[in-house]
Amino acid sequence: MGAEELVEVRLERVGSEATLPLRQRVLRPHQTVRDVVFPRDDEPDTAHVVAVLPDGAVVGTVTVLREESPWGAPGWRLRGMATDETMRGRGVGSRLLAAAIDHVRAQGGGLLWCNARLRAVPFYQRAGLTSRGEQWEEPHIGPHVVMWRVI
Ligand SMILES: CC(C)(COP(=O)(O)OP(=O)(O)OC[C@H]1O[C@@H](n2cnc3c(N)ncnc32)[C@H](O)[C@@H]1OP(=O)(O)O)[C@@H](O)C(=O)NCCC(=O)NCCS
Repeated sequence: MGAEELVEVRLERVGSEATLPLRQRVLRPHQTVRDVVFPRDDEPDTAHVVAVLPDGAVVGTVTVLREESPWGAPGWRLRGMATDETMRGRGVGSRLLAAAIDHVRAQGGGLLWCNARLRAVPFYQRAGLTSRGEQWEEPHIGPHVVMWRVI
């Protein structure tokens, strides 16, 4: 393991603003930072968690907010799941996902769902989510499938 892998990454609960630059850069490079604001980003029960390096750089982000599932069930939607390219494969994303799951649990639990990029399906499966329904192509982004689990 190189020195880089030993760098401490801490998780922090933050306001939505802190998530926007990484959200835009990793997930929506074809859009502007202002375009990547989600509805309900600033609701009191929405949680944003970022992974931060000792120098303050945000290298990971996740958002979980109340939103009905595509099949009309009340639940929580996972959005904006991103790790900086240079920090992937070290468990940062899994820790962020666990923090989002903890938030849902602390709010009484329920259905957690997301629109998952096909490439990220194994990542979500490891956290207990399963896919549902047909895949579709999201313009500018690629193929997606809905994934879900009950918390
Ligand atoms: C998905 C993502 C958040 C995972 O973050 P991470 O910090 O690397 O997560 P972990 O280290 O906990 O887990 C690594 C796993 O992520 C998945 N992964 C790796 N690179 C990926 C990529 N470019 N895109 C999607 N998933 C990826 C793999 O399943 C990987 O497992 P492996 O190490 O066994 O190959 C990160 O890869 C990413 O930001 N990808 C691009 C944006 C994206 O696809 N976000 C999800 C939108 S639904």
